[in-house]
Amino acid sequence: MRIGLFGLPGAGKGTQAERISKHWAIPHVSTGEMFRELQTGTSELAQEIRAILASGQLVSDEMVTKLAFDRLKRADCQRGFVLDGYPRTLPQAEALQQSPFALDGLICIEVDRSEIIDRLSGRRVCERCNAVFGSESLVNREATCPHDGSVLVQRADDAPEAVKTRLGVFEKNFSPVVRFYEAMGRLFPVDGNGSVDAVSERLCSLIGSKWA
Ligand code: AP5
Ligand code: MG
Repeated sequence: MRIGLFGLPGAGKGTQAERISKHWAIPHVSTGEMFRELQTGTSELAQEIRAILASGQLVSDEMVTKLAFDRLKRADCQRGFVLDGYPRTLPQAEALQQSPFALDGLICIEVDRSEIIDRLSGRRVCERCNAVFGSESLVNREATCPHDGSVLVQRADDAPEAVKTRLGVFEKNFSPVVRFYEAMGRLFPVDGNGSVDAVSERLCSLIGSKWA
C-alpha cells in the first residue's frame, strides 16, 4: 500500500496520515516534519531551511526528492507507506512515479478555503513531541501538551503572511500534479470537510476498498 496525501496547507494531511499509519501499520513519511527537524541548529543548511519554511516557499525539488527517497529506501517502508506532503510539484511527481516508490494512489483531501484559514490559525504544536492540536481540542490556547506537559507553540509558517504565500504556492502547483495522477487513473479526491473522525471514515473506506 503506497499512498500519498495531497491537499492545501491545513487540509488535514498530517492528522489523517497519523491515523492511517496506525490503522494499517505502515510508516507515516512527512517531508514537512523532516524539514522541521533539519531546521533546528545553527548549521548553514539549518538556517537556509528555516528561512525557506518560515517564508512559506518550497524547498528545491532536488533536495526534497533526495530526502524523501532516502527515507523510502529504509526497510520499514517495504510493506508500504503513507506519504504526507510529497509530491507537491510536477517534477516531484514525475521523479516519484519513475522510482521504485511509485504511488498506487494520490489522495487529494479537499477542504473549503474558509475552513483552512480557521484550522491554520488555530493549530498548535508541542515543541517537544511535535503532536498537533486543533483549536477545537484546546480550550485554552496556552495549554500544555497532554502527552509530556511541554509548551504548545504556533508553527512559524502559520503566521498570516506565510499562510498567504503557502496557499499561492499550492494553487500554482495543484493542476499539473492533479492532471498527472488523473491521467494514470491514480488520483482519488476525498471530501476533507467535517470532523476528523468523519474524514477518517471516508479515507478508511477508500483505502480499504482499493489497496488493503
Ligand atoms: P508541510 O508540513 O507538509 O505543510 P503543509 O503542506 O503546508 O501542510 P500542513 O502541515 O500545514 O497541513 P496538514 O494538511 O498536514 O494539516 P494538519 O493535519 O496539520 O510542509 C511545510 C513546509 O516544508 C513547506 O511549506 C515547504 O517549505 C517544505 N516542504 C515540505 N514538503 C515539501 C515538498 N514536497 N516540496 C518542497 N517543499 C516541501 O491540520 C491542520 C490543523 O487543522 C491542525 O490543527 C489539526 O488539528 C486541524 N484539523 C485537521 N483536520 C481537521 C478536521 N477535520 N476538522 C477540524 N480541524 C482539523
Ligand atoms: Mg502537515
